[in-house]
Amino acid sequence: MERVVVVNFGGQYAHLIARRLRESGVYAEIVAPGDAPSVAASPDVKAVVLSGGPASVYAPGAPDVPDEIFRLGKPVLGICYGFQLIARKFGGRVERGAGEYGRTRVRIVERDPIFDGWSDEEYVWMSHGDFVARLPEGFTALAVSESGYVAAARAGVTYGVQFHPEVAHTAKGRLLLENFARRIAGVKSVWRPEDQIQRVVSEIRQRARDGEVLVAVSGGVDSTVTAVLLKMAVGSRVRAVFVDHGLFREGEPERVIAALKSLGIEVHYVDARERFLKRLEGVADCEEKRRIVGETFAEIFVELLSRFPGVRHIAQGTLYPDVIESGAVRGADRIKSHHNVGGLPRWFSLGLIEPLREFYKDEVRRIARALGLPDEIVNRHPFPGPGLAVRVIGPLTRRKLEIARRATKIVEEELERAGLLRRVWQAFAAVGEDRWVGVKGDRRVDGYIVTVRVVESEDAMTADWSRVPYEVLEKIAARITSEIPEVTMVTYAVTSKPPSTIEPC
Ligand code: XMP
Repeated sequence: MERVVVVNFGGQYAHLIARRLRESGVYAEIVAPGDAPSVAASPDVKAVVLSGGPASVYAPGAPDVPDEIFRLGKPVLGICYGFQLIARKFGGRVERGAGEYGRTRVRIVERDPIFDGWSDEEYVWMSHGDFVARLPEGFTALAVSESGYVAAARAGVTYGVQFHPEVAHTAKGRLLLENFARRIAGVKSVWRPEDQIQRVVSEIRQRARDGEVLVAVSGGVDSTVTAVLLKMAVGSRVRAVFVDHGLFREGEPERVIAALKSLGIEVHYVDARERFLKRLEGVADCEEKRRIVGETFAEIFVELLSRFPGVRHIAQGTLYPDVIESGAVRGADRIKSHHNVGGLPRWFSLGLIEPLREFYKDEVRRIARALGLPDEIVNRHPFPGPGLAVRVIGPLTRRKLEIARRATKIVEEELERAGLLRRVWQAFAAVGEDRWVGVKGDRRVDGYIVTVRVVESEDAMTADWSRVPYEVLEKIAARITSEIPEVTMVTYAVTSKPPSTIEPC
């Protein structure tokens, strides 16, 4: 497969570039700056993109890329920081200025195939303090911004843009990246994640030649797709387990198990509700809740291994961004990072299978659709691993947990009825310790406050609160206060991320 490599000068920037390229059917991979020249030397690599990043090119220890990358003769596109790095390397000047932030108009001053499909003036997204004050010799400015900065430049097959084509706010950004890959670099291969299913299945089969493969399913799209691919690869040697920590939404364990059954996967149900709840009761600190859930999970996993002595491999639905972020070496297949479950020699002798390690979330959804998974799983909202524990603010009590569970069900039902549930990123209810006096009948009641949170987002890094119609909010509030007697007030969270996070805890 022909591909483009994206040199990683800042995780989120690089991932967005790779995702946009892949959405256009151009396969892209992320590499660390030091590895870039050797990876890019491969004949399959048709071009290199230098990502943006938070540093200034003059900052001590600012990330750099070896000069050999430019000697390969392959097209290079520097974005923001990447552009400034190119400018400095080739003898131009980068200076600190007033900067440009947000939506900015740029004007094309020299037509170029990279701008095919662009009008002479377009809006782009800028986010820079430093700027290219003087282009290196041999470079031509292709576009300038409304503040007079160089917005794009070129010398031969080396390009630089000051704006961010990878963000959705640059309306024709994806087109620019596609032009670069297809027109400038001549990439012809078309990447479609669903075409990879057979290859991934045969790779699993290669790895899991003997013994059983243990996979923990949660109902999320990643673990479900992982289980289905395993089933395709090794058939009845899959051991799928569902650990019920008691922090799921109403009816969720039953739905997950039934859905997998309909896909031919028998799930072993582990009822660990009391075990988790006993440890979590009274715990107020968020990170402590997460730690307890993680630790208890690991313990149960170790116990399952003794219960299933035939297990030789563990499968996980790890995605590409996690693989890059954890700096894992390609092809490494032993579990080393699970120090939290150490102590058991057998654990270390197990093989790790991560069939989704080269895919982004939206690609996993495409694979899920191609595998015929039900819509409920394909489009399921993200649900945190520690479940409702992070939606109970302050000390965890069974009562608050029940309130969060029942209120969340009402939020989901009413959004579904209004046709909104599928259109938002996440929707739930949270409950804390604060009280609000209510009147129920002719009695004053000291009740709980439930906060409803509905957000829209592309990748959970930023999020906006959803403008849910008043009538829908009214219905939600009326149902929560009438169906959950100990709740006397419902509030709606109208804060974006940042400054808030999505989950309250
Ligand atoms: P925040 O609250 O940080 O969440 O804005 C960003 C996204 O991550 C999810 N989230 C979690 N997922 N374990 C998870 O598996 C966790 O502990 C956790 N905390 C937050 C959150 O639902 C949102 O989609």
